[in-house]
Amino acid sequence: MSNHVLWQEGQVSAKDRAQLLGQQPATVWLTGLSGAGKSTLAFALERELHRLGRACYVLDGDNVRHGLNRDLGFSAQHRSENIRRVAEVARLMNDAGMIVISAFISPFHADRKMAREIIGTGSFREVFVSTALAVCEARDQKGLYVKARSGLLAQFTGISSPYEVSETADLTIDTADMPLDQAVAQLLKLLTSCQASCF
Ligand code: ADX
Repeated sequence: MSNHVLWQEGQVSAKDRAQLLGQQPATVWLTGLSGAGKSTLAFALERELHRLGRACYVLDGDNVRHGLNRDLGFSAQHRSENIRRVAEVARLMNDAGMIVISAFISPFHADRKMAREIIGTGSFREVFVSTALAVCEARDQKGLYVKARSGLLAQFTGISSPYEVSETADLTIDTADMPLDQAVAQLLKLLTSCQASCF
């Protein structure tokens, strides 16, 4: 960043904005393999939060890669930049008072750590969607595992690109074991831990 870029202070604070919305902003960061169930969980949680009158928004890997991050591929460097930008967006949305639910593979420990640092430990909750590779591959909703196995899709997470298992998760959910409504209840409970006054 240039030395000639200076921070501009506004007159409404993050606390003021959160108070207006009557909630404590936070980011629920879902990490896991493609097909693990991150998007399904994210959108189900969003629906439930919305029903409860909470201002929230889902940042989803596939969707964000249609716009803001359309210039990024799947090399380790591009995935890292993907996560950096998304974490900055989540931080801004939290600053605006919103609850953010992010659904990105985010396969690298260092990138998840970076996201936690950008967003701030106090409002960051990491959720490992631990559904096994064999289950994700059997689901293959998007047909990408078949392509990756046949060599038509390079650098595919779990097949030809690594996934570093989350060891710092605040919650772990295996969608093969747990019904969706139960998983959403667990996610709500997790959010309650940083929202004591709001639920
Ligand atoms: S991340 O690794 O950079 O966090 P992100 O969550 O944004 O990934 O995008 C993952 C989605 O992109 C997958 O759900 C899948 O639909 C699609 N995709 C396309 N190519 C790949 C690939 N090589 N590896 C993983 N996902 C891919």
